[in-house]
Amino acid sequence: VVNLPQLLAVKVSSEIVPKFTSSISSGDYTGLVDAIEQYNALIRDNRASILAYVKSSQHTLSTYFCHQFLQQLYTRIVTPQCVKLKRYKPFSNFVYGELLPGFVSDIMGYIQERGDATRIGSLQNFMDLGSGVGNTVFQAALEFGFRNSYGVEIMEHPSDMADAQLLEYLEKCKLYGLKENHVELFSRQSFFDNPVVKDRIDASDVLLCNNYAFDYDFNNRIVDMFKDLKPGTTIITLKPLVPYAFKITADELDKGSILGRLHVQKMVSKPGAVSWTNTPVYYYVNTVQED
Ligand SMILES: C[S@@+](CC[C@H](N)C(=O)[O-])C[C@H]1O[C@@H](n2cnc3c(N)ncnc32)[C@H](O)[C@@H]1O
Repeated sequence: VVNLPQLLAVKVSSEIVPKFTSSISSGDYTGLVDAIEQYNALIRDNRASILAYVKSSQHTLSTYFCHQFLQQLYTRIVTPQCVKLKRYKPFSNFVYGELLPGFVSDIMGYIQERGDATRIGSLQNFMDLGSGVGNTVFQAALEFGFRNSYGVEIMEHPSDMADAQLLEYLEKCKLYGLKENHVELFSRQSFFDNPVVKDRIDASDVLLCNNYAFDYDFNNRIVDMFKDLKPGTTIITLKPLVPYAFKITADELDKGSILGRLHVQKMVSKPGAVSWTNTPVYYYVNTVQED
């Protein structure tokens, strides 16, 4: 429907799709075949105008379409083996949990609205540190058009699923005739002491770090890793990077700590934003300032 001129899209969504779905639920085989044939005939008879529409249109993808796309990917690849995502050491830095697509859209939408300087349309590079099965990486590329979208994940099972989701993502982009932005996963790798990943981090415009379950020392190591970020970079975290009532010391300044250069906004999500609770969660939009 996304790739059809409006008149045809209306015909498909108001006539053919309802006939297709009601035939499935009522077990009406003839009705089902009829709906499929009607659809095929519509595409066949209008091939030239559909191609012209796809080529000429500059239309952007709707949020609904992007979320459906991501959901299909997830249902096909992750859902059948999701029990494996629970295989981590409890209360460790490797606890698994996901930000849901609606929440990621809200966060990115907020960054987009903040002003010209930080408009996502002009942003190039996104990276998720601890990217799990890669959901946010695909969403950044698909829905927000980041030219380069990276993920790094250390654990084996989420990495396997992320790699499989990437193959499916590329196939689906081809199927829908979508231009793919560059997506790259650093699977089964740590973001610490990883020079290639560090280069990508330093070039990022938006970094996501779901540090909800990370402990104090781990968060401090992450802060150290951010010392070369460029002004304007936005870091989204679920726990604060800058400790409460923080005052920078001369020692930290000498070490080039980023803490004194972060402008922090504490935000609260809508309910149902994350996979581990329905309760709203806090999140932090940290923006790197000039020295
Ligand atoms: C809470 S999950 C977040 C998944 C995804 N980013 C999301 O928000 O939907 C945190 C992930 O960080 C990963 N992780 C922890 N330490 C890591 C490290 N040193 N390098 C890469 N990934 C790491 C964990 O294995 C886990 O999958």
